Amino acid sequence: MRLSVIGCGYLGAVHAAAMASIGHHVVGIDIDQRKIDALSRGEAPFFEPGLQEILSEGMASGRLEFTTDIDAADGSAVHFVGVGTPQQQSGHAADLTYVNEAFASLTPHLREGDIVAGKSTVPVGTAATLAPKVSDAGATLVWNPEFLREGWAVQDTIDPDRLVAGVLEGAEGERAADILREVYAPAVAKGTPFIVTDYATAELVKVSANAFLATKISFINAMAEIAEVTGADVTLLADAIGHDVRIGRRFLGAGIGFGGGCLPKDIRAFAARAEELGRGESVNFLREVDAINMRRRDRAVELVIEGLGGSVFGKKIAVLGAAFKPHSDDVRDSPALDVAVRLNGLGAEIVVTDPRAIDNARRLHPQLTYVADRDETLRDADAVVMVTEWDEYRREMAPEHVSTLTDGRVVVDGRNGLDAAAWRAAGWTYYGMGRP
Ligand code: UGA
Repeated sequence: MRLSVIGCGYLGAVHAAAMASIGHHVVGIDIDQRKIDALSRGEAPFFEPGLQEILSEGMASGRLEFTTDIDAADGSAVHFVGVGTPQQQSGHAADLTYVNEAFASLTPHLREGDIVAGKSTVPVGTAATLAPKVSDAGATLVWNPEFLREGWAVQDTIDPDRLVAGVLEGAEGERAADILREVYAPAVAKGTPFIVTDYATAELVKVSANAFLATKISFINAMAEIAEVTGADVTLLADAIGHDVRIGRRFLGAGIGFGGGCLPKDIRAFAARAEELGRGESVNFLREVDAINMRRRDRAVELVIEGLGGSVFGKKIAVLGAAFKPHSDDVRDSPALDVAVRLNGLGAEIVVTDPRAIDNARRLHPQLTYVADRDETLRDADAVVMVTEWDEYRREMAPEHVSTLTDGRVVVDGRNGLDAAAWRAAGWTYYGMGRP
């Protein structure tokens, strides 16, 4: 099929390349010339495992192209809209400027029978307000939320765990769902659940999934807070409750909490939308989820201060990790970088390293020192703070080796990813999150 993808950020660029990889002819469209130039050269504008490969293949096959010209949407059977919905400058609600602009620029290019598939994460009710404009142009709107995880985005797009299509009631909606089934034919053929809903449900599936994941993380981090005053170990607690299949161990990783371009802004936008709908109390707990999450960053800073005897002023601290999670170069609302910035604000000499995210981190926080080499980062440090659990730190960093580089013997494990016993055995004072 011929597809257009409006918005070539994280979601759109991966979607465009992934759709080309399963055989569609795809044009990716974005207003950001630099991004389009990079993609047109076949270069991934951000680090995402597997993206470079499918991008190069797509460009070589002639089935994938990128442009800033919205005219290129002409003739596509399905137009995906995957532009950003950041948090508003003032307040917690989602900023729909890019969504509205994308729909306004796309509408004149729609033909009778075209499908517009909204993928952006939007406040519930948005699709219903956009649908009439799409219908006026003879096309049909479907809401098709995206559940990809950064670091696994290519796999999640080609082989998702479920597909959701929010459609209008009746024949028009059924036809739209059928066309989406055709787009995602390989996944559908595999038996991937394809759930057809109304618009509001599809929009809510997306935000409630992220709200649930955020709540799960904050739940275990709340248990970490209790563990800290009782001497319990939250990692063992998570293992034990996680064996209950109704609970499950995944997303019970206690630490410095969640960040990134999705979970934090999505729970805030959800709470703001619920407030507008007069149901603020229904998701009031999300404010608590947010508050618990932010407190964990404070806690990591406290542990470093404690480890260094009451003050970090003038101390050299090696910060391992800047990305909001491993396998990503994304530093949007990164808890790792936030901890580094806070310590820097307290007068510590901060040296940050990360396998992928240094360039992005430096752009955001040029006041910090960045060193690409892990061992150089550790050299002469008074304390080591691990805040993004890359394998380079979690698995491939023996405490005995680190001891040959650092001055101090204090390690704060912001992700509970290090082997506490091994570090202690090597003479280190080890601090975990929610662990004795
Ligand atoms: C999240 C969702 O997981 C995706 O399903 C969703 O599609 C995406 O947002 C989105 O809305 O676009 P992502 O932001 O890539 O995906 O990252 P996650 O893997 O969810 O991790 C989010 C944060 O939670 C990271 O900072 C991670 O370190 C943290 N986390 C995760 C924990 O602190 N503990 C855990 O146990 C798991």
